[in-house]
Amino acid sequence: MKSLITGAAGFVGRYLAQELEISGYEVIAAKLPFENIDFKCSAVYDLDITKPADIVNTLESVKPDVIFHLAAQSSVAVSWKSPHTTMEVNVCGVVNLLEAVRDVCPSACVLLVGSSEEYGLAGEENTAINEDIYVKPCNIYAVSRATQNMLGRVYADSYNMNVMMTRSFNHIGVGQASSFVISDFCRQVAEIEREIKLPEMYVGNIKTSRDFSDVRDVVKAYRIITEKGTKGCTYNVGSGKLITIENVLETIIGFASKDVAVKIDPGKYRPSDTPPLKADTTLLKALGWKPEYSIEQSLHDMYIHWYNSI
Ligand code: GDD
Repeated sequence: MKSLITGAAGFVGRYLAQELEISGYEVIAAKLPFENIDFKCSAVYDLDITKPADIVNTLESVKPDVIFHLAAQSSVAVSWKSPHTTMEVNVCGVVNLLEAVRDVCPSACVLLVGSSEEYGLAGEENTAINEDIYVKPCNIYAVSRATQNMLGRVYADSYNMNVMMTRSFNHIGVGQASSFVISDFCRQVAEIEREIKLPEMYVGNIKTSRDFSDVRDVVKAYRIITEKGTKGCTYNVGSGKLITIENVLETIIGFASKDVAVKIDPGKYRPSDTPPLKADTTLLKALGWKPEYSIEQSLHDMYIHWYNSI
């Protein structure tokens, strides 16, 4: 089975490549020209998802059986500052990919990785959200992901293409950029513990909650969805558990021996923050997926990694 991962140089790519390799897949990585791939794979291609010709050329030489589409502008915070880029990459990029697949390898399975942010204001407090609800995205990133999801459905239904979608809730792990909350907190606390930063850390809105999963569980879900999922369907990928950002912060501070003062940085607040949402993963579990990593383990792994690498 030949797999192609777009956006392979990002945080999730290396974990997905490893998951696929141990499951017997041939892994081909596609990345932006200035990026590096430092994990095992059988070939590496330069691919800018905003350039249709790049995609056609890559697909013609690879002829993949399955494509995992990770290439994206994946930050909610960045989407407020760069709305055009967010739409160009997350919406036009998906059209470019689906058109190229239709042209070059129409029977390939395509997994479009989307986001729980698509649900936005659609959730009800304390109720796990399922894939059938009418989405109400409430930021620019979320709109781009919801559009991607609708495009995937249209290509599956109208062209009978084997396209599946996820709505992935927050996922974390070693190697995640420190622009995301948990990596940011782990890095700051590790710097304090190493005494290269004053014992005060800066946070945004810690009163909200998120449904966090370990990236290793998430990539396993991606493989299983493409193996056993139904074309045109969307699958939630999440833990089904909510935790407050404040609780996460306390746990991470607890890994250090120093006293840490927590200070609010207004610059880390967003024009609007998506309300807490937890995943109903009934559909995904019916395919045989179950999570293996606890949040405590993920946080500890990330803290230790930052501590050892600064
Ligand atoms: N980044 C950051 N830094 N976020 C903070 C901070 C901080 O210092 N303090 C509080 N937060 C809050 C944010 O306001 C948000 O409510 C929450 O922590 C999580 O922020 P992020 O880690 O930046 O992730 P996100 O929820 O906006 O988006 C992530 O999850 C989505 C799925 O729900 C990304 O991974 C997206 O790509 C993904 O689709």
